[in-house]
Amino acid sequence: MLKQSDPEVYAILKKEEKRQQDKLSLIASENCFSPSVREAVGSVFSHKYSEGNVGERYYEGNENIDQLEQLAIDRACQLFKVPKDWTANVQALSGSNANLAVYLALMEAGDTLMSMYLPDGGHLSHGWSFEPDESKRKADLVSGSLVYLGGKRKVHLTSRLYKVVQYKTEPQTKLFNYDEVEKIAVKYKPRLIITGGTAYPRNIDYRRMREVADRVGALYLADIAHEAGLVAGRAVRSPVGVADVVTMTTHKTLRAGRGAIILADKGLIGKINRGLLPGLQGGPHNHNIAGITVGLGEALRPEFTKYAQQVVKNAKHLAKALEKQGFKIVTKGTDKHLLLVDLNDQPILGKNFAFILDEAGLVTNATTLPWDSSPPRNPAGLRLGTPWVTTRGMKEKEMDIIASWIKQVMNIASSWSKLTSQELEEKAGASMELKNIARAVSKLGRNFMDFPKKGMVARAI
Ligand SMILES: Cc1ncc(COP(=O)(O)O)c(C=O)c1O
Repeated sequence: MLKQSDPEVYAILKKEEKRQQDKLSLIASENCFSPSVREAVGSVFSHKYSEGNVGERYYEGNENIDQLEQLAIDRACQLFKVPKDWTANVQALSGSNANLAVYLALMEAGDTLMSMYLPDGGHLSHGWSFEPDESKRKADLVSGSLVYLGGKRKVHLTSRLYKVVQYKTEPQTKLFNYDEVEKIAVKYKPRLIITGGTAYPRNIDYRRMREVADRVGALYLADIAHEAGLVAGRAVRSPVGVADVVTMTTHKTLRAGRGAIILADKGLIGKINRGLLPGLQGGPHNHNIAGITVGLGEALRPEFTKYAQQVVKNAKHLAKALEKQGFKIVTKGTDKHLLLVDLNDQPILGKNFAFILDEAGLVTNATTLPWDSSPPRNPAGLRLGTPWVTTRGMKEKEMDIIASWIKQVMNIASSWSKLTSQELEEKAGASMELKNIARAVSKLGRNFMDFPKKGMVARAI
């Protein structure tokens, strides 16, 4: 129907389907959803306004939405094995909004919030502010201080509303030292402590962080936006029942369409519900809640546990395979679905390398690294993740192939290190060697999931 009614949008959609089929996404925060999740997201549920909560809406006609949302809440509680007095909110439009709703519910403006430092793997919505003065940034690195009290540029709304204290990894290990985190908490007395982020490859010790929070009388929020599917599939530890509140996105490892879930005890959830509405949002996106409900149903099946565990096996294997190819991996590996490649000893750094890899059909993103002074516009790190390629059915053997392609791309690009970004992009665009790798990537991808022919039903895991 779209083809006839709006051929322009249809053509763009077909190009995007082809891109997703031909290339391999190694972006740690991305995944692809089942046809059933996509059918639910594209359904009539998007037509309905339903401000309020189950059984107490501001609009009439919500009997089916009530049933749907209750099912989502029940499935979330079952999947994450919440304690008896806990429940879920599934209405936040995104992970960032879920976090904001928690802050609105649990803090007053001016309170202190303590979170992981963004360049060490935290998240913008945990209060990021940036220091534009390069000499101050360098001095901060040299000092070796494990605390960051924010920069002049208040990037995220939260950095304007709250006092933000961020804890850093140790310079040698690039790991958090919980005794040091505790000292920081004792000194700054935060109202809320947050763990979680986008680029920390190792497990977080939730129980130790609970102790830190208890020592200073803080509430504890565990943001498992990235790891939600791994927690559900018991591939990593769970903070449920340990932290006071758990937030997550549903579209990363959880593979349940876009949105977010908040878990907490019934007392706190009441406040958080009011943080979301009227504090932050209007009507819930019911079509997304429908997608989440279907995705949670899929995650409750035994195959999902196999999937989550394979995601981690693949990431560990990819890290080892890249090390064999001569790449340095931050913390020498990973406990979960993502890994960080340190490109400081390579001819091409993160942003440029990610661009060149994309020309070869491997979609990745550049990232800052802990304790690194490379410029934020071309950071030295490359973040890789295995959720999407594992959904396509790939295993360790394919991780070896991907690692060897990454090495080949670096070899091809090694003589381009002195070029400007524009010259480098032209070179990469014209390279027959990169095009040959892109063809091989696409050929491998056809064995795993074929959008046009099978509509993604060929998912192996
Ligand atoms: C740790 C963490 N929290 C929150 C978010 C925000 O999620 P969203 O992009 O849905 O706002 C992300 C997204 O990458 C994340 O990694």
